Amino acid sequence: MRAPFKGGVRGNIRIVRGNLGGGYVLAVKPVTIPGIEEYAEAHTTPPPAYLTQLAEATRAMSDEAEMLVGVVEGRFLELLVHLSQATRVLELGTFTGYSALAMAAALPPGGRIVTCELDEARGEYAQRQFDGSPFADRIELRVGPALETLRGLAGPFDLVFVDADKTGYVDYYEAALPRLSERGIIVADNTLRSGDVLDATQRSATLDAIRAFNEHVRADPRVVSVMLTIRDGVTIIRKA
Ligand SMILES: C[S@@+](CC[C@H](N)C(=O)[O-])C[C@H]1O[C@@H](n2cnc3c(N)ncnc32)[C@H](O)[C@@H]1O
Repeated sequence: MRAPFKGGVRGNIRIVRGNLGGGYVLAVKPVTIPGIEEYAEAHTTPPPAYLTQLAEATRAMSDEAEMLVGVVEGRFLELLVHLSQATRVLELGTFTGYSALAMAAALPPGGRIVTCELDEARGEYAQRQFDGSPFADRIELRVGPALETLRGLAGPFDLVFVDADKTGYVDYYEAALPRLSERGIIVADNTLRSGDVLDATQRSATLDAIRAFNEHVRADPRVVSVMLTIRDGVTIIRKA
């Protein structure tokens, strides 16, 4: 597999292989008590075979497979699309296509996801997954910087899933908010950074960007938000 799938293994990654909930729990350092992530996965409806195969293929070719949303968050995103009855979804950060495919399953016929990926090789790989899935007609991949793509889209979007580079989160949020439909939501991933948001001695561009994003949303009177301790932290935001 080509180099873009490779990268440094992060210090806070934990990979647990077991026989719960579809075979693997792949998680960042948990923010919950030990064993809870595995228990939650074991008590979540397993993903369809094509998603399990995609997760396995991603693990086999990439040392950044922890970037996949995984079983629980994938099911959670699908449920959000289902509950919100979203028909227009935007995703920032495609990777190998797992979360786009998870959300596509809940779209009604005619519903559409636009998913944005910077890396060409990842985009090509994800496109092949989409083409071979039951949802090829529902997913449109845009390769390039997500902010440029987003600024070129009129919207409105019923759900915007933000999962690209963390240093861009405030810009993505500011560009997405005016493009939300009346009852639309923004879903931002990794907002707890394995709990590192709490530790003031820990600093990095990514961590500082997530802290800044969390403060930005909290202080914004235009929105109502909830930060959930699912996996690595998921914040859901709607217009006030
Ligand atoms: C955390 S991964 C996305 C995981 C994906 N949502 C899933 O669950 O399968 C983040 C992705 O964003 C991409 N990315 C990083 N910076 C980007 C940018 N400026 N524009 C678009 N994509 C970007 C990365 O190449 C990577 O594939």
